[in-house]
Amino acid sequence: MIHMLDIAFSDATVPSGGAIAIPATSGTSPTGLFATVNTALDGALERAAKAASFDFEAAKTCVVLAPGAGYDRVVLVGLGRADELDATVAEKVGVAAAKALAAGGTTGVIVADALTPELAAHVALGAVLGSYRFDSYRTQPRKGETAPLASLDIATSDPAAAQAAWAPLAAVARGVCLCRDLVSEPANMLRPPEFEQRILALRDLGVTVEVLDRDAMAELGFGALLGVAQGSDAPPRTVIMRWNGGAEGEAPVAFVGKGVTFDSGGISIKPAAGMDEMKTDMAGAAAVVGTMAALAGRKAKVNAVGVVGLVENMLSGNAQRPGDVVRTAAGQTVEVLNTDAEGRLVLADVLWYTQDRFSPRFMVDLATLTGAIVVGLGHERAGLFSNSDELAANLSGTGEATGEKLWRMPLDAAYLERLRSDIADLKNIGGRPGGSITAAKFLECFVNEVPWAHLDIAGVAFTTKATSHAPKGASGFGVRLLDRMVSTYYEG
Ligand code: BES
Ligand code: MN
Ligand code: ZN
Repeated sequence: MIHMLDIAFSDATVPSGGAIAIPATSGTSPTGLFATVNTALDGALERAAKAASFDFEAAKTCVVLAPGAGYDRVVLVGLGRADELDATVAEKVGVAAAKALAAGGTTGVIVADALTPELAAHVALGAVLGSYRFDSYRTQPRKGETAPLASLDIATSDPAAAQAAWAPLAAVARGVCLCRDLVSEPANMLRPPEFEQRILALRDLGVTVEVLDRDAMAELGFGALLGVAQGSDAPPRTVIMRWNGGAEGEAPVAFVGKGVTFDSGGISIKPAAGMDEMKTDMAGAAAVVGTMAALAGRKAKVNAVGVVGLVENMLSGNAQRPGDVVRTAAGQTVEVLNTDAEGRLVLADVLWYTQDRFSPRFMVDLATLTGAIVVGLGHERAGLFSNSDELAANLSGTGEATGEKLWRMPLDAAYLERLRSDIADLKNIGGRPGGSITAAKFLECFVNEVPWAHLDIAGVAFTTKATSHAPKGASGFGVRLLDRMVSTYYEG
């Protein structure tokens, strides 16, 4: 089960009473259903907006309580300037409307007859993503906290067209909510085998799922990934998802995710404060799973592969030691000088395997890879590293369009010097200076000619405060970005 608000579209008739939200612009007097409700209330809505000096700024709300005619709660939601009203604004309007409705009950109607069916669908997307909660482990509601909306009706002049526009967006929303669910799960509930089970559910969408267990990975020479996994009682997995919606035989696009279900740091153990957040160190893998669910859910006309390396980084009598040397699937050896730089070890094997087996059109990996990227970019943008200007531009542009923003970082050859080991081909740490760049440089050693990009999502995947791209908690970062990049540049 995925945590997600139910959406229905209905005819643009005036709801009789209850809670409604009306997206509207200022200036001209109300039209459509806004006018009908306003008239039924003897002009109370216009008077309320005036009395509150409400300027209909985008996503700002004016709540009118019990104005008469059986209404409990009428929320005016600003649409901002007509010439700036686009999908992004509509999503923000949906977030605000759903939030204002939830404050008064568990059901509501958004009166969206003033919007095109396409924009009404984006209002729905905002409402769904803005209403997300992860409450599986709450046995009692918290005092003072309002219950989330259970269902939302969107009244529109063309329900069939809105529903058609919503269908692919609903698939993306499900992918985002699936990603958020996975990231929110505590690490005792989601170790690699449980993660594998959650991925197997994608078969219902037509995704082919293949699982490599410890023996299979040993056979393939995944020494770097297995070295990380050896300190945990939880067995590691590499899971391969395939969606074939494109032309037969066409090379797939590929997504690779870091899935460290808990990162204690290993023998190079992390400090206690904040270590709990390392249950989210599988957010890259979750974004890949969410993206595959989105692509399959909307039957994208593309061949896509998702590969995730799932391990737990723990301490034990058998844990990997600082100074150990491991042999990667690519054949290169790595001196593990810090067991907390484990993500790059996992990705080294999985990246190499993915490009070697699938020869993809491009390969994008997502990973909560370094604390240094949080220092550099904070929680608003993810770091982008790429060997391809074209792929980097496609990702950056889509980031601006979806709000899941990126910032490109350098990959000069000179950074590689910091990764030379005294006794092996590479060492897994390059020191504090440019920590995110040397990490990316390490990954690049396991990619051959294929266009590749690495997204360091350590700062954006999970936050303790709301950001411009998501409410606090798990953001689902990457799903909207990658789904949209595929639909814009690589589909059909
Ligand atoms: N999972 C962490 C990175 C991380 C930090 C993710 C903060 C999310 C929030 C990664 O495995 C790690 O421990 N990186 C080390 C690398 C260092 C030992 C070279 C780091 O960033 O400190
Ligand atoms: Mn680590
Ligand atoms: Zn990690």
